[in-house]
Amino acid sequence: MVRAMRILTGLQPSGKLHIGNYFGAMEPAVRLQEQGEAFYFIANYHAMTSVRDPGELREYTRELAVDFLACGLDPARSVFFRQSDVPEVNELAWILSTVCPLSLLEKCHSYKDKVARGISPSHGLFAYPVLMAADILLYDTNQVPVGKDQKQHLEVTRDLAGKINEAYGEGTLVVPEPIIRDSVAVVPGLDGQKMSKSYHNTLPLFGEEKPSKKLIMRMVTDSTPVEDPKPVDASLILPLFRLVADEAAYGEMVAQHQAGGTGYGDFKKRLAEAYWDYFEPMRRKRAELLADPGYVDDVLVQGAEKARAAAAVVIDRVRRAVGIA
Ligand code: ADP
Ligand code: TRP
Repeated sequence: MVRAMRILTGLQPSGKLHIGNYFGAMEPAVRLQEQGEAFYFIANYHAMTSVRDPGELREYTRELAVDFLACGLDPARSVFFRQSDVPEVNELAWILSTVCPLSLLEKCHSYKDKVARGISPSHGLFAYPVLMAADILLYDTNQVPVGKDQKQHLEVTRDLAGKINEAYGEGTLVVPEPIIRDSVAVVPGLDGQKMSKSYHNTLPLFGEEKPSKKLIMRMVTDSTPVEDPKPVDASLILPLFRLVADEAAYGEMVAQHQAGGTGYGDFKKRLAEAYWDYFEPMRRKRAELLADPGYVDDVLVQGAEKARAAAAVVIDRVRRAVGIA
């Protein structure tokens, strides 16, 4: 029997989600559900490399489950689970680590970047790509949709699968293909840099109305007088407005930038409203999920069962190949 294309990706529960995460990762993942058998998981072991507070880790994990479901992840169609509910991933990570040259990990930018940002240089942080490879290889994954920042980790994954196959026989592991989301533009933050929780420039995906809108009203703009034309290319407001407004409203705002006569306060107000309205259906769904915690628990329990069943096939094959079984 030919198996459907298996698509897998993970998100770390390492903080509150922002609209950059939504447009860059969650919305594309929701769309991809149509194209194959999707496995989406909450990478809570990975988050331990940066989240040290157990209460926070629990809270972010739960929130990510609720928020992803609110954004349209359909558990009837996709397997949705917590990484830690499939402990076999640690066994595979160990096996992969025995064929992983240190030099492969030493080359990884993400480790160096994180250490430069102040994350403690633990063995876990260094070995992060090996666990990520195990996440992917444990499910005979064919395709892995990720942002550009994860490209190198996918290369490590393919390398490790190749080394296992070379050492223990072709077909021991499936070599996956990355799907790098080049087409998804980087969502700019409120200060014009990439939106990122590390830069404190985010618009929350599910924040409180007043404080969230206030973040927009407080965006720093240039001092062009109201009556003058405003720069379109350098605008911080327009690229965000484009994501959440319909085309006509966006076109109108561009024209008003060019014509002059409208102040930044007015543009910001429209951005704040469009942002709030855009996420209204997801917010409603989220409120329903929060009111029914048993449902979310069930989704995760069932997801874990399906994921473990898929993982069992691969880990058995690997154990036999390497001589453990
Ligand atoms: P952060 O930069 O806030 O720490 P993460 O690195 O945890 O976010 O990113 C989680 C996912 O969201 C990744 O797939 C990443 O590619 C995507 N993502 C994060 N920020 C943005 C952004 N500003 N624009 C597009 N995608 C983003
Ligand atoms: N490292 C990814 C990130 O920070 C999260 C992740 C962990 C992942 N395991 C994965 C992504 C497996 C894809 C496949 O965004």
